[in-house]
Formats: sequence, C-alpha cells, structure tokens
Amino acid sequence: MKKMMRLDKILVNMGYGSRKEVKELVKKGEVKINNEYAKQASIKVDAYLDIIEVRGEVLEYREFIYLMLNKPKGYISATEDDYHKTVIELIDEDYLHFKPYPVGRLDIDTTGLLILTNDGDLTHKLISPKSGIIKKYHAEIDGRVTEKEIEIFKNGIYLAEEDYTTLPAKLEILKRGQMSTVHVFIQEGKYHQVKRMFESVGMKVVELKRLSMGEIELDVDLGEGEYRELNRSEMEWIQKIME
Ligand code: URA
Repeated sequence: MKKMMRLDKILVNMGYGSRKEVKELVKKGEVKINNEYAKQASIKVDAYLDIIEVRGEVLEYREFIYLMLNKPKGYISATEDDYHKTVIELIDEDYLHFKPYPVGRLDIDTTGLLILTNDGDLTHKLISPKSGIIKKYHAEIDGRVTEKEIEIFKNGIYLAEEDYTTLPAKLEILKRGQMSTVHVFIQEGKYHQVKRMFESVGMKVVELKRLSMGEIELDVDLGEGEYRELNRSEMEWIQKIME
C-alpha cells in the first residue's frame, strides 16, 4: 500500500505527541527516514513504504484500529459523558491516540461484545440495517417464552415511537419456565431494541449480553472490561464485508 503523508502527521497519528512536540523531535535529530536524519517535520513520506525510525525504533504505521471489548455493566457506549463512566475509560493509553469510539450502542446494563474502531466506513457498514448483519444476544427473560413469541419475533414487531416494524428476528429458547433463557438474533440496532421487543409481548429482559455481530464472536477468554485487537480471521471478515 502507498500513502504519501506529512511526517509530522504520521508521528502525531501514531501518538508521538502534538504537532509542536513532534516538530521538536525531528529538530533534535530523533527521527530518521530510510536511515537518514529527517530535516523537516513537514516533508512528505510514504507512511507504509518508507522506513521511519523514532529514537532508533522502527515505526509500523497504521491508520485504523479495531478492538473487541467485553463491555461490563455500568459503562456507557460513548466517548464522553458528564455523569457516567464510558467504555473509552477501559482502553489503554497506547490506543487512545487513534481516537477509537464504539460501533453502535449497548445499554449501560448490557454486557458483551462491543467493537471499537476509528474506521468510519466500517462503523457505517456494521450498523446499517441494509447490511443485514446479525447481532446475537443472550437474554434472561422474566416471562414464559413460547412458540408464540418465536412467531411474533419472526414476523417483526411494531415499535410505535419510531413507527417502525423490526425486520424478522429469530428467537431460540434455551430454558423454558417462568424465567426463560433465550438467544435473540436481530438485524438492526434500534434504541433498547431487544428490551422493547420483549416489552411488546408483555415480558421484561432482566439480563442482556451481546455474543456476536456477523462473524465476530465475543472471545470467551475476555473477562468483563477486557479487550483485544481483532485477529486475522476477524479482520478477513471485515475486509470481506467492506468489498
Ligand atoms: N437491545 C437492547 O435493548 N439493549 C442493548 O443494549 C442492545 C440491544
């Protein structure tokens, strides 16, 4: 890949400081391009092909990051908030200069898979109902879920506030009883969608956890509040849906 960019922009994007600070780095002779000291911070270099060294360490340029977080309760899916903790507070300093943000929202009391990225095109793709990407949730329901609800979910549920009927959703019953355990598969991500779908059949969601989005499944090794970068096969799926 070829990408001509100003050296100072590359260094800022990769977290080496503000524009002023990286200019200073270059001035002090701490940056080399293809083994030669960089003379000016404003020169254009190829972010991927030229060898950029900062204090003797070769910089691996990348523009985007893709993280999978197992969201705990008590955090909101936003980058800033005056009252609540945000999921960004769970992310290490090393990633923050990429300015990641959550793809879509999980409610404050919902746990599970949340993707964070700074790639706007991917965000759009993943949350657009047109893409038909299935989100799978595990839910504990106060109520007896039966074949009747399976049928209602399949036919779509009218959400009056938005004057919108949900796309066909799949419901799998894992445990039947006064309290039921289910898997729910939906294609959109309307506000409180799963909770509102159950409300419309007179039931309450008491626990909700997202297990997957398309082919990206929550890594069972991630404890709540832990995250990791998407791995190669997950990135291959991302590339496939972006084609
Ligand atoms: N549906 C909900 O009701 N809440 C979520 O957090 C996600 C889907």
